[in-house]
Amino acid sequence: MRGYSEDVLGDVRAKSDIVEVISGYVALKQTGKTYKGLCPFHTEKTPSFVVSPEKQLFHCFGCGAGGDVFSFIMKTENVGFAEAVKILADRAGIIIREDSEEAREERERLRALYEVNEAACEYFQRVLMESPEAGAAREYVRRRGVRDEIVRKFRLGYALPSWDALLKALTASKIPREALLDAGLVAPGKDAGGYYDRFRARLMFPICDAQGKVLGFGGRVLDDSVPKYLNSPETALFKKGRNLYGLHLAKDAIRKESTAVIVEGYMDAIASHQHGFDHVVASLGTALTEDQARIIRRYASRVVIAYDADAAGAAATVRGMEILAGARLDVRVASLPAGEDPDSTVRKGGAEALARVLTDARPLIDYKLHLAISRCDRGTVEGRVSAAREAAMVLATIKSAVERSEYTRRAATELEIDPNALGKDVEALVRAGGARPGRPGWGGRPRVAVRPEESGASGDRNAASRHTKSEDDIARSGEMMKVLEAEKMLLRLMAESGEVRRIVLEQVGADGFRDPGHREIARAIVAEGTMSRSGSGTRAEAEGGAGGDAVEPTRVMAALDNEETRRYAAGIFLGQAGEGQGDPSRMAQDCLSVLREHSLRDRIREVERELASLGGTGEMERSRALLAELGSLRARLSKEFQPFSGIG
Ligand code: UTP
Ligand code: MN
Repeated sequence: MRGYSEDVLGDVRAKSDIVEVISGYVALKQTGKTYKGLCPFHTEKTPSFVVSPEKQLFHCFGCGAGGDVFSFIMKTENVGFAEAVKILADRAGIIIREDSEEAREERERLRALYEVNEAACEYFQRVLMESPEAGAAREYVRRRGVRDEIVRKFRLGYALPSWDALLKALTASKIPREALLDAGLVAPGKDAGGYYDRFRARLMFPICDAQGKVLGFGGRVLDDSVPKYLNSPETALFKKGRNLYGLHLAKDAIRKESTAVIVEGYMDAIASHQHGFDHVVASLGTALTEDQARIIRRYASRVVIAYDADAAGAAATVRGMEILAGARLDVRVASLPAGEDPDSTVRKGGAEALARVLTDARPLIDYKLHLAISRCDRGTVEGRVSAAREAAMVLATIKSAVERSEYTRRAATELEIDPNALGKDVEALVRAGGARPGRPGWGGRPRVAVRPEESGASGDRNAASRHTKSEDDIARSGEMMKVLEAEKMLLRLMAESGEVRRIVLEQVGADGFRDPGHREIARAIVAEGTMSRSGSGTRAEAEGGAGGDAVEPTRVMAALDNEETRRYAAGIFLGQAGEGQGDPSRMAQDCLSVLREHSLRDRIREVERELASLGGTGEMERSRALLAELGSLRARLSKEFQPFSGIG
């Protein structure tokens, strides 16, 4: 399925006890049936990271990270699934026999790419150090103030001003031309079968993954010619927006400070490190992506963006910052002096100058307000009015009412306008946009979205905004939360009991789950339940009762393709399970009844809507049918679900 046979995966899994593996990374303490520790994926003072030896899953109740032993290695080592399997196999002393031809070829191709990149990196380094033709490059490095030890640390190199120096040197050491082509180091020339070096007369910056393996290169001209920097094309290894320059050298410091500083350029990162700012990485001039946000989230809870003023204010950059904030990173924006970047800042003012810039970084919202206001001409009435309008739009995005009013007050002072008037505009915008319920339960951040205090169901202490939501909306979001909780409980029970799986299949089926993510997990549980039963060859139903024929959570996880779904599933399996709370079948029936009630209410709402939309004439027939259905639906609802409110 993912390059390895089930046999191999099963073997690796069996020999990789999750508690043992995670203990190599996190100090775990046993508490009852599970182990607890400080989550390696976010900063915390009290442990909310739980590992279950029984279920072979981990889950953090703080940040929501979770999964099986493979997911854990993928996250901590920042590798793909195949690589994680390999790491665990090596650890357990299992020799992986690769069964699929395709998988072997793919791994071989990647291995060859790493090899050619490493060889090229060493070659460029050697040229910069030793070649008589690299004098100008050495002089350039010296002029830019980069010390030798930093040149070595960042493995800087030089590509000679030649069409085939690299091609010749590497093919001479038995590296096939096709591999050089795959790695984007050479390009096909005009003559058939001819190739030429992509990088010529450029100072070379290798771009590495979190382990320091070379993925690609950037190359800078030594003069003012263009393009100033040339980068490797996209290859199987090098993907734009997936890496951060210097991460392998910065990750420990980032973890230690729980803060990452993101600069734009190669030289900005290098100069920062040279001046002792080890927690600096570079985005390489492109807008920040969700992949990069996820990478940073692994090591830090805070990010400081230190771009030069033009780049920082660009719309794409601000969107990138919002992506980081969306990944629950505390985003700050540093303001560099006009026309300066971090490299020039440390060069002119030393480490103190950059330190000052970084400490003065302000929260993203503050920065966005500043941008909005400074775009307008505050000398005129019209300018102040439009600045106020822009500011109100930014202010309305602040979720916390306290923060919102605080920032509103500050913005009003800065604009010299009436804070109450601005506040009214802001709250009007909040109301206009605030009724959006979002996707409850499932989605990018399911655990957060489900919380009642954030879903708007009960957290709205603000009377003004309550007017905009009908009582109906409020009741419905409460109802939806109940449904999602019931579905989660059902999933847990299904994993634990074959009887529950049978009941669920009989009454609603795996597709009866309202939430698409839950549906997927339910299908995986059912499939796994069926497989393990036919595998064991016994009539498992005969055992019946509680705890009978549980499915292996890790096997369910393995059937889920999407990492996000796996993470979510781990949370469900390790949540407060029904254990010891009563008979699983009874509990399942209760959950199913919640689902049934919801679908009844849903149908009632649908019928009511249709009735309301029907015109008078010619639709009498339809109206009558709907009214009849409505009547019977309401009767069923009160009979089945409100037994105490009726006459009896
Ligand atoms: P800048 O133009 O700000 O350059 O581009 P810089 O980093 O200050 O470079 P120096 O100090 O002149 O050497 C910022 C980053 O954008 C990417 C590079 O990663 C660069 O470091 N870039 C820029 C390119 O990829 N190609 C270009 O042509 C220019
Ligand atoms: Mn620069």
